[in-house]
Parts: sequence; C-alpha cells; structure tokens
Amino acid sequence: MKVTLDDIKARESQHVLQTYRRQPVVFVRGQGSFLYDGEGREYLDLISGIGVTSLGHAHPGLAAVIADQASTLLHVSNLYYHPFQAEAAARLTQLSGLARAFFCNSGTEAVEACLKFSRRYWYTQGSPERQSFVAVEGAFAGRTMGALSVTSDPHYRDPFGTLIGPVTFVDPQKPETLAAAVNERTAAIIAEPIQGEGGIRPMSPAFAQAINDVCSRTGTLLIADEVQSGLGRTGHPFYAPVLGLRPDLVSVGKALGSGVPVGAALVSERVISTISPGDHGTTYGGNLLACRSAIFFLEQLIDKGLLDHVKTVGDHFERRLRALALQHPAIVEVRGVGLMRALQMASDAMPIVDEARSRGLLVNRTDEKVVRMLPPLTISAAEIDRAVDILGEVLGAVSASMPQAVHA
Ligand SMILES: Cc1ncc(COP(=O)(O)O)c(C=O)c1O
Repeated sequence: MKVTLDDIKARESQHVLQTYRRQPVVFVRGQGSFLYDGEGREYLDLISGIGVTSLGHAHPGLAAVIADQASTLLHVSNLYYHPFQAEAAARLTQLSGLARAFFCNSGTEAVEACLKFSRRYWYTQGSPERQSFVAVEGAFAGRTMGALSVTSDPHYRDPFGTLIGPVTFVDPQKPETLAAAVNERTAAIIAEPIQGEGGIRPMSPAFAQAINDVCSRTGTLLIADEVQSGLGRTGHPFYAPVLGLRPDLVSVGKALGSGVPVGAALVSERVISTISPGDHGTTYGGNLLACRSAIFFLEQLIDKGLLDHVKTVGDHFERRLRALALQHPAIVEVRGVGLMRALQMASDAMPIVDEARSRGLLVNRTDEKVVRMLPPLTISAAEIDRAVDILGEVLGAVSASMPQAVHA
C-alpha cells in the first residue's frame, strides 16, 4: 500500500506528540549515500540521520550482522554475560586509550553517565561537595535533565525550570575566563572538541590549553563530548587528542551503531576504581544487537580502512567547499574537519536547505545561519563532487534573496 505525505502528516499530527518540525518528505528506502522517497525520488544524503548512518544506508555487511544476531539472540539484560560486550569495549578502549566502556543507548545517555561518574569520583575521593560543572557556550549535550543542564541554548533550557547545577558556561572565545569559572566545587569541565549543533565550531588551541592548565592545577575532571565529532567523523578516531586534550571521560554515540542505537561512556583509569556495581545501569545498554553493530562499525573504521578514506575524501570536500565559497559571497566562512563540515551563511540557512532538498540534496541547518553537512563516512569523492555541484546551483538560485558577505 502506498502512503502519501499528506496521509502520514495527518496521522502523525493526530497521534504523535509534536516535538519535531519535520520537512515535507517521506523516506522509504536507502542505499549507500542515497535516500529514496515514496515517489522513488533520489536524494544524496549529506546529513546521514545527523551523523548516525556512518556506513551509509542498507550496508550489506551490517545488514547481515543484524539479521544473523536477530535470528540468534537480541537481548539478555545486563544480569548475564554475552559474548560481544567485552569485544566492543576492548575495541573502544584500544581506540581511545581509556580504560573501560559503559554502554548505553544514545549520546545523551553517554553524557549523562559521564556527569554521574564525575560526581561519583569526587564522592569517593571524600570531596562530595565537588558537584558542579563548567560547560561551554554553544554546547549541545542532549535533552535529559542532566545533559540539558550542560546544554547552553536557553530555548531548550528555559521551559524546564531548575536543572542540575550549578553549571557555569564559559565563552569559548575567552579562554582566559575559564580559570575563574573553575572552583573548589567543580567536578568536571565538559566540552565538545568540535561543537556540532552549535555550528561546527572546532575548539581553539588557546581554549584547549586553558582546559589543560586548569585541569592539571585543580584536578578537575575533563569530559570530552565526542558524540558528534568522535569515531572517525573528522578523519581521526577522536578529536580531543588532536587538540592535545587528555579527557578522563569521553561520551560517544551516533556513528557507533550506524543506525542501531548505541552509545558509550569511556572512562579513564583514574575514574574506574571509584565506580561500583549498582552505581549506574540501563536495561538495553550494550545488548547483543548493539554490540555486534558497534563491533562491525569499528572493524570497518579501523581494520577495513574507512578512517583513511574519511581523511582523503574529507580533504577533497574541504577543497571543493573553499572553491565554492570563492564563487558565492553569501558564504561567510567554511568550517570543519574531515566529513564534519559547515558553511556559515550571512543569513538564515533554511532557504538553502529547502532548495537543496528540492534538487535532491539533503543538508541541514543549525545555529540558524549554518549549513551543516555530516555525510556517511563511506561517501565517495564523486558523490561529494555531485553534492557540491548541486550546492552551487542552489546558491545560484537562492542568492538573489540572500545578503552577501563582504570578504576582506
Ligand atoms: C555533542 C553531542 N552530545 C550529545 C548529543 C545527544 O545525542 P543523542 O541525540 O544521540 O542522545 C548530541 C546530539 O546531537 C551531540 O551532538
């Protein structure tokens, strides 16, 4: 039975809690870097479910692993052992240099676990008053009460009253203010090595240095939120080490399951001895399906050369976007690393997103004036060329109505 956009919209508006502003398209199938709507129209997907479908759509190897696991055993609960959690954890700890992994189901839960483990650390150290956090203006960490507390956007926070705290937000352009924000009650600093929802803004070397200085002076823990920037997105396993950061805790999610929900909090040697059975848990966390998917993704990333591929096509993407910016004065800045890219526009980016979609290209707006692109890590250079060509046509079509940036 064919379902139309209008039918689905009508049913959703009646039955689904209206928390999302959806774009008018119904996707029914995917293949590699492409999505297909109910009419059979093809879309080149430069957003991959917001950085999630890292292996592209309908990856045959991942599909086989999922089918095999689904017909063997999906879930047993953390009351028991199964064969795959230790292997997924071993791969993540090897990749990150951290000591242990705690599995959960999303990036938000990974952040939440990191916040809890930070407080637990100080509680065990005999400093239970160290409960507060320092976060960064522009940060997004999720929507649960804890993760929301370290998310800076007042639109997300204000309707929900008192959050956990105290949390002090620091302007990333003012690294000299970080030291004063950290005090004897601070448990941890939490920061994204590259802010994702905040507009693809890599942390400056000066801010990274300020974090290292204050952490080594005060013992404050560092949580690197790598939910968006981690696991190959930048062409590096993680971006915190590229900045010279040495986090005590790292949150990951998104790319890890390539569409199967799985997240993890990675925990350093320093913190693990303070965590005891019963301190934290979740029913689904690290079940067989999630761990098989994560292992398959990590095999592709490291053993099958996907990380090197991201470096190569990421550089190509950057060259093409910089050339595009030279031709289109509506682009103020090109930002990002690897396959985590953005065009900073002079005005609202939504007309670009809409025009691109009508021409078969999916990109995303974030921070109002930013066109964000997080393609599958498997995207080819030819597909990137096609995407940038379409972006050029889109900018040509919408630029008459857009303010132009004045380039120095
Ligand atoms: C840096 C960062 N942390 C946490 C989250 C929350 O992850 P999730 O939506 O999977 O719960 C996101 C989601 O965009 C994110 O970008």
